[in-house]
This record gives sequence, C-alpha cells and structure tokens, in this order.
Amino acid sequence: MCGIVGMIANENVCEVLLKGLERLEYRGYDSAGIYLANQEEGGSLVKAQGPIKALAHKITPAMHGTVGIGHTRWATHGVPSEANAHPHRSEHGKVVLVHNGVIENYKELKEMYLKDTTLTGETDTEIVVNVIEQLMANEGLDAKSAFKKALTQIQGSYAFALIDPTQPDRFYAAKNKSPLLIGCGPDFHLVGSDALAMIHQTNQLIELQDGEIVTLTTDSVIIETLDGQKIQRTPYEAQVDNDSIDKGTYPFYMLKEIEEQPLVIRRLQQKYFDQTGNVRIDSDLIQKIAASDRLYIVACGTSYHAGLAAKATLEAWIKTPVEVHVASEFGYHMPLLTPKAFFIFLSQSGETADSRQVLVKTNQLHLPSLTITNVPGSTLAREADAALFLEAGPEIAVASTKAYTAQISLLTILAYAVAQQRGGNYGQPSDLSHEFSLIEEKMTQMIEDKSAIHQAVKHYLPTTRNAFFIGRGVDYAVALEAALKLKEISYIQAEGFAAGELKHGTIALIETGTPVIGLITDEATHTHTRGNLEEVKSRGAETMIFAKASLAQADDLFVLPDVPDYLASLVTIIPLQLLAYYASDERGYDVDKPRNLAKSVTVE
Ligand code: M6R
Repeated sequence: MCGIVGMIANENVCEVLLKGLERLEYRGYDSAGIYLANQEEGGSLVKAQGPIKALAHKITPAMHGTVGIGHTRWATHGVPSEANAHPHRSEHGKVVLVHNGVIENYKELKEMYLKDTTLTGETDTEIVVNVIEQLMANEGLDAKSAFKKALTQIQGSYAFALIDPTQPDRFYAAKNKSPLLIGCGPDFHLVGSDALAMIHQTNQLIELQDGEIVTLTTDSVIIETLDGQKIQRTPYEAQVDNDSIDKGTYPFYMLKEIEEQPLVIRRLQQKYFDQTGNVRIDSDLIQKIAASDRLYIVACGTSYHAGLAAKATLEAWIKTPVEVHVASEFGYHMPLLTPKAFFIFLSQSGETADSRQVLVKTNQLHLPSLTITNVPGSTLAREADAALFLEAGPEIAVASTKAYTAQISLLTILAYAVAQQRGGNYGQPSDLSHEFSLIEEKMTQMIEDKSAIHQAVKHYLPTTRNAFFIGRGVDYAVALEAALKLKEISYIQAEGFAAGELKHGTIALIETGTPVIGLITDEATHTHTRGNLEEVKSRGAETMIFAKASLAQADDLFVLPDVPDYLASLVTIIPLQLLAYYASDERGYDVDKPRNLAKSVTVE
C-alpha cells in the first residue's frame, strides 16, 4: 500500500505535495512525511505518526523547497511510527527516498551492504536508501547511477521517488509492479501513485512502466530503461473530474458514495447500451466468453462478494459454469482448470496484489482474461487481454459501496450481451436497459428511507459486540458483503451466513439480544429463512428482517422493493451499507478511514 507523490517546480512545492498526500490518504494513513530540498543543509524533513492532518500541523510556513517528495504509509515492515515513516534519509544524508511496495530481499541487501550502517527504523525502505548511499560512496557513482544499480539488485514491488539534496534541480523515480504516474505541466513535473494525487495540478499524465527510471526537472521528463535505452512517451489526458473528488457537504465520503449509486447505474446504462437496448461491448470479447466452457472470477473482499452475487445470473444467461475465487487462495492452489477457461478479474482499484499475482500466472499460461475495474490504466486493466470500466467515479471511502453495485451491474450486462449474441431465451429480460432505469428509481427510494435505518441502528446496534447476517441464494452473497461492511467500519464482529448453515454450529453463539439480520428476497426459500430466524429468535436473538414487498410480513423491519431476482442484490445492499455507515458514525469512528485498513491493497 502507501501513496507517494513528488514534484519539481519554480516555486515552493510543499502545499501541492500536502494536497497530493491528502488525496492519496485512502492508500494508507498510519503515518506520513514530506521532504523538501532547499538551500538549508540537508533540506527539510518532517514526519508524523497518524493521518495527513497530523503532518499538516507540523509543517511551518518557513518550510520551502522547489523539489520535494511525500509519502502516506500503510505499515508492512515495522510498526506505524515516526521513525518508520517515509521519506527516509540515508545515514549520511546523501539521498532521500519514498517507497510504495515491498522489498523481498531486504535482508540480503542489508547483509551485503550495510554491516556498518546505523539504521534508525525497521523498514525495508531504509535499507534501500542506505544501499544507494553505499553504492555512491564505495563505487564513486552519482545518485542516479547508484539508484539504477540498486534497482538491478532489488527484488520485490516498488514505486520509488529519490532526491539527491545536492542536486535540487531534479529528482528521480522508478517502478516495478507498484503503480506510478508522471504528471506534466508547462514548468513543473510530478509523480504520484495515481491521478488523484496530481489532478489538482495537471491532467496530462504519462505512464511509467516496470523496469523504467525517470529523471524529472522543471522542463524535462527523461524516461529510460535500466540499461540506458531512452523511451519517448507522450502524455495522455486523465479523465478524472477534480470536483468528483470533493466530499461536498457530506460528512463522509462513504455516505456520498452510497448516494451516488443510482447515478452510477445510469452511467453504466448510458455507456453500455445503445438507443435500441443492445449492449455496446466489443463483440470479440463477447464471443470469447460465449466460447469458454467455464468462467473463473478472481477477486478479493467486496469485489469477491460482487462476483458471488452475480454468479447465478451469469450461469443462467451464459449457460456456462462460473467459479468465484478468493484471489489470495487461487494463485497458489490453482484448481484443475477446464480446457476453455476464461478469467474475469474484478477489482475496484485494479491494483490489488493478490489478484495481480493470479493474472501474472494466467498470462504465463496464455489463458484469456478480462479485468473489470473502476480505474482505467490500472495494472490489472493493462495486463489483462481486455478491460471494462465501472464508471463509478473515484471511490475514496475505504469501505467499497458504489464499486460493488457497479461490478454486479456490469457482470449482469456482460451476461446479457452473451445471451443477446446467442439469440436464445435464457430467462433474460427483453430489455435490460429498461430494467436498469427502474432499478435506479428503486435504489433512490432506498436511499430516501435512510432515516429509518439510522433509527434502527440506534435501537438495535448501540452497544452490540457482534451481529449475524443470514440469507439464502443471492441473499447469502449479500449477507457476506453486509457483514464485511459492518465489521470493517464499526468494529462490530459481524458474520454473513447461509441461513440454513447457522444451525450447524454457529447458532451456539446466539445469546439474548444478539442481532441477527435476515435477508429475504428469494421466493424459493423464504419460508426456510423465516424458519431459521425463528430458531435464533427462540434462543434470544433480536431479529431484524429485510424482506421484499411480496414476501414481507407485518413486523419486518424494512421492506425492500420487488425487483427481478437478477437485480435484487443492487437494492438489498443499500440499506445494509447505510446500516454499517450509521453504526460506525454513531460509535464516533472515522467512517472513511477504518483502523488497520487501506483502500488499495498492493501487498500479498
Ligand atoms: O480494489 P479491489 O476491489 O481489488 O479491492 C479488494 C478489496 O481489498 C476491497 O474490496 C475491500 O474488501 C473493500 N475496500 C472493503 O470495503
């Protein structure tokens, strides 16, 4: 994880770096730092434990520099502390470095180069910055040559930005597996972990690729490979609307993003359907999916849950078995694959390392793949054979909401496209685009009912330590996601269960007052789920039932609108996202930045 930003300009870059770090805070927020090279000996280095605002408090008006680098951290090696916060300065101050990623051979590097070096923290990055200094001292190399040489010896993932304080007219950056973009202005240049970090300055971006190093000055960008070959690459225009990154009047991004979901559905509809209701997705891609004998969906966390929620529709309309796998398990315990396997990588960020390691392996096996992501240009989007985009706009809150519903929607559109191309009747509607318009309204209705959810949270969840979500079929998939939402931001221990499975052990945890949230939208099994809710109620549980109108009963807590089964998850999840949101807010937590987490998980 972690976010990095760097800038060179003709004026003080401190403010811009700080703003960039605020935008990158979703990538980690346990400590942060900024280094500015200037006339003062050694430049100015400031670090703070905690979020960016703690760093901002430590920055004085006197801090200045026309070149600087900044970092926001999600700890991997070493506890969150000021000593472990980046930027890291080498022992004798020859170079200063920020890093996103994990250096796998840091122990070997330490052993090889740093026997006599005094280290002050526990990070792998401190090893690298000192290796560079050693290479400068021992081999008489300048900072850039030493950096290049170090890069040839480093194993692992990295995005680095490096400053030599004696050369404040330039800085360097390099990457391998971790994301890094270059931002271009008329008389300034930046690097950042993503476009959000730089969009307040420029939308002209250049992608840096693995194995490349870049030298940035105010008026030049020199990209080269590690063996010195120069690369010419022209900037592209980033499609990020600066306004869409602002929270506006919302207290938290999560609430804003929950409320944006109907709009996201409309954007998907506009992008992926033409006027006549036909799907606009490359027909070669649709043909490849139609020709496969099994779809393997690989994802993590919320994206994994989105895959589970869409599985039944994909199987019904494509008439192909679908397996949904947790990426961190799949890559190292790959099941026996069918001869015409097709892979779908689902990822909001497009950067998740667990998913990427599977994609690397499927690419080595020459297996066809599609990435569905929210971030064009992301690693998973670039490395798969094809990519489709969620059109959800930047999702800043760590708890994913609008990306989840967008993923289910886009998988449903994909299934529909295959069924349309085949021309048969597989139970798909005659006009899915129209169904999406209706769903947009029902989602809006759910959002308008948010005060009912807020009241329920105050009544049922004020102090509870645990909670269970149960359902069958697609309701089970939604129960898993609802539990993840609640636990990650409110720290209530929440579990999602197949309603019928609870009695096979977990029911032992039910005590007087334990909240059990039942989801009922499935005609085939609603009586069974009600039976399971009775079982827990008779053991003291406090049940809260979310049932669709045609299956609802008098004392159900919340009535969901009747929608086709294949779209049920899109409306059921909304009150449950709100439930998690209010539970977190009522307990006084920072809803957008839950503890121990980060938005983009770029370590395995
Ligand atoms: O960016 P991705 O969708 O690949 O991220 C995968 C998970 O880390 C992510 O979905 C996580 O579970 C959510 N932030 C939880 O709300």
